[in-house]
Amino acid sequence: MAQKPWSIDSYKMFPAEQQPVWPDPVYHRAILEEIRNQPPLVFAGEVRELKRQLAEVAQGKAFLLQAGDCAEEFQGTHGKNIREKLKILLQMAVVLTYGNLTPVVKIGRIAGQYSKPRSKPTEEVNGQTLPSFRGDSVNAITPTLEARTPDSNRLLRAYHQSAATLNLLRAFTHGGFADLSRVHSWNLDFVKNSPLGNKYEAMAEDITRALAFMRACGIDSEKFPQLHQVDLYTSHEALLLDYEAALSRVDSLTGDWYNCSAHFIWIGERTRQLDGAHLEYFRGIKNPVGVKIGPTCDRDTLLKLVEKLNPENEPGRLTLITRFGADKIESCLPPLVRAVRDEGASVVWSCDPMHGNTYTTTNGYKTRHFEKIVSELDQFFQIHVSEGTHPGGVHLELTGDHVTECLGGVEDITDEELPYRYNTACDPRLNAKQSLELSLHISEILKKKAHQRPDLGLTVG
Ligand code: PEP
Ligand code: CO
Repeated sequence: MAQKPWSIDSYKMFPAEQQPVWPDPVYHRAILEEIRNQPPLVFAGEVRELKRQLAEVAQGKAFLLQAGDCAEEFQGTHGKNIREKLKILLQMAVVLTYGNLTPVVKIGRIAGQYSKPRSKPTEEVNGQTLPSFRGDSVNAITPTLEARTPDSNRLLRAYHQSAATLNLLRAFTHGGFADLSRVHSWNLDFVKNSPLGNKYEAMAEDITRALAFMRACGIDSEKFPQLHQVDLYTSHEALLLDYEAALSRVDSLTGDWYNCSAHFIWIGERTRQLDGAHLEYFRGIKNPVGVKIGPTCDRDTLLKLVEKLNPENEPGRLTLITRFGADKIESCLPPLVRAVRDEGASVVWSCDPMHGNTYTTTNGYKTRHFEKIVSELDQFFQIHVSEGTHPGGVHLELTGDHVTECLGGVEDITDEELPYRYNTACDPRLNAKQSLELSLHISEILKKKAHQRPDLGLTVG
C-alpha cells in the first residue's frame, strides 16, 4: 500500500506517546526555534558511513557493540566520566574483535541519551505522589514537585551537553587515546589487579606482540589510520519528537532529511505503535535506526514495522533490538526471526539482555542479575545459529565506574550490597568488571564461530 507523503512535521498528525506536558507552550516553541538554529551535531556523511558498516553487520561480516548509560545525566558530563565510559567501550570492543576476528561497530548510548519513557506517569516518594523523572532533558530527579515539572530550558541544555560530550569523544577517538598500541591503558584501575584484569592484560599483550610483528613487517600506525583512531558513533532513544525534529536537517548533497542529533536513533518498546507519531517521524529520515522489540510484539506487527521503517530493504538501515528476558526469549524470538528471514528482509539482529530482566528487590532496588543477562545472550546466539541468521550484536546498559547496580558477576554482588554505590538515574547498569566479564564471555562464543571460517585459515580451535 502506498504511503502518504512525509514531511518533517507530519508526525504531528499522529498520536505521540510519552511526550511531556510543557508548562509554557509559547516559550517551548521559542526554545525549539533556538535549537533549530544551532549547528547539527553529526553530519550526513558520517551517518551514511555508519549505515554502510551496519550493512556489514547485517551480513555477518562485522559485529555491533551498542552500549552506555540508561540515562545520561547533565552532571555526569565531566571529562573523567566520559573518558572512563570510552575506556570500557574500547576495552570491550577490542575483546570482541579479538574473538570474532571481524570489525566491531561501536555505538555509544552517549551524547544525547537524556530522555526516558516511563511505565507510570507518577511515582510515590516518601508518601508523596510526584510526576515521574523523565530524563534530564525534561525534569530533574530531585523528588519535589518543582524539580519534577518539565522545563523547556532543559532541551537546550541537552543539546549543549551533547555537543560538549561529542567534542571530547571526537578528540579522544581521533587524537591518540584510542591508538591500538595503548590497549593496555584502557584497563580500568579497579579492574587491573583482578583475575579478569589479568585475562585482559594477557590478550592486550598478544595484540601488542601482533602490532610489533606487523611493524617489523613495515605496517605501522603512521600508514594505517585504523590502528591509531577509531570511529565511535553516538545514539539515543529519539523520544521527544519536537526536539528530534528541530535537530533534523536536509543534507545538501542528497536532498534527504537526516536526524543530526546522533548518528543512530532508536524507537523504544513503549513508542513503537504502528500508527504512532514516532514511526511517522522515523520513516522519513535516512539515518540507520533501531526499534526495540519486546514480548508483546507479534509476527504481523513486526513485519509491518520492518516494512514501514525499511520499505526499500536497504541493508544497514534497520536494527531490531530484541529484549524479551531470559525466560521468554526461547518462545518469543524464533517465530520472529523466521518471519523476517522468510520475508527476505535485511536487518541487524541485536540482543538487549537488560530490559527484559529487570525486577525490584525486596529492599526496593531496581536490578538485574548477571546470570539472566548471560542466559538471554546465550540463547540469542543459539537461536540465530539454529535459524541460519546472524546474531549481529548486543545492546547494553553499562558504565566504566565501580557501581553496585546489577547483581552477580565475578564479585558476586548481592542484594545487601546494592545500596553501596547505586548511582544510576534510571535502570541498573553493569559496572566495568561485569562489562568486561560479559565481553570476554561473548568473545568466547564468537571465537568458536570464527574458527569455523575457512577464509581465516586457522587450524587450532
Ligand atoms: C532503554 O533502552 O533504556 C529502554 C527504556 O528500553 P525499552 O524501550 O526496551 O524498555
Ligand atoms: Co534502560
